[in-house]
Amino acid sequence: MAYTVPKLTDYSAAALESAADGLKSALREESRAVTDESQFKAFRDRWMARKSGVLSQLNDEWLKAAPKDSKRAVGQRVNEIKVHVEDVVAKAEHLRHELATASSLASGAVDITLPGIRRAIGAEHPVLRTSREIVAVFQKLGYSVADGPVIETDYYNFEALNFPPNHPARDTQDTLFIAGQQAKPLRERLLLRTHTSPVQIRTMEKMRPPIRIVIPGTVHRNDPPDASHSPMFHQIEGLAVDTNITFGDLKGTLDHAMKEFFGSSVKTSFRPSFFPFTEPSAEMFVSCFICGGSGRRGANPCRPCKQTGWIEILGCGMVDPNVFEFVKDTGYDPKKVSGFAFGMGAGEPRLARVDAVAQF
Ligand code: DAH
Repeated sequence: MAYTVPKLTDYSAAALESAADGLKSALREESRAVTDESQFKAFRDRWMARKSGVLSQLNDEWLKAAPKDSKRAVGQRVNEIKVHVEDVVAKAEHLRHELATASSLASGAVDITLPGIRRAIGAEHPVLRTSREIVAVFQKLGYSVADGPVIETDYYNFEALNFPPNHPARDTQDTLFIAGQQAKPLRERLLLRTHTSPVQIRTMEKMRPPIRIVIPGTVHRNDPPDASHSPMFHQIEGLAVDTNITFGDLKGTLDHAMKEFFGSSVKTSFRPSFFPFTEPSAEMFVSCFICGGSGRRGANPCRPCKQTGWIEILGCGMVDPNVFEFVKDTGYDPKKVSGFAFGMGAGEPRLARVDAVAQF
């Protein structure tokens, strides 16, 4: 006989327990009888339908009817039963689904020889992701993306960037040279580019001013690997040339870009530096996004910023007129145009930022 919710006369714990048991065993039996979709729906509605399901009857017959001092105990019991019923109904649905799949497989309704859905595996490398995110910041400012070869000539990597032959600034680049080039004139000798700056020249040879470009790419240096060095690493270069570009444009652009990337609370600081291809030159620091600029992490010193509260992010400066001389033919007359450039590593800052997030 189908189960109906009994009226309660006794509200003692033992009476509630046995009423609940009666309900659960009826539920169990009815769930076992479910074999197909329409039976499942009837079963689900009988127990859970909002208006007349067994659960809503419990509310009326047990909870509302209970005397005041039993309401709490009855309420807890009804809640417990509710969770149990939902659980059994969910399991019945799952089971029915499996039975249906099994029977359609058996009857050949599902073609199990069709290829499955291929899911992408893995994730974007953090360095490339950082690079892409930085590039995106500049793209929003109207910059376009340029690239150039990793195997470069001495001319583009050094000479046209105002590194004269034998100039000591060349030594700072720890260049990896391609073997067997000595017979060629210096400017034609091949090397692994030590920075993305040669793409400044290559792009200015092809595109007349005004230009605004960013150049992501790999570079190589003869550095033994350690926690902060690698013989291969990633840089992002930037170049803006127009009439009347000033150092103020450089500062405003880079300050904005850092706030976009690291968050609006970072501060930037520019300190004088030297690069052969910019004059004046600067290094830009951002306030340490790990310690917030305090130099300390609680009782400990902040190591990423070496307790200074600042992290060096990039080199930059106003394009040296000597560099424009090399691309004068495509419209870069140093008397008419000016510009700024910058270059930064792509890996480290973001990894530090991930580390910072992990600390909180
Ligand atoms: N090329 C420099 C390096 O790798 C970084 C750099 C500094 C790039 C200043 C620039 C710049 O464009 O203006 O060390």
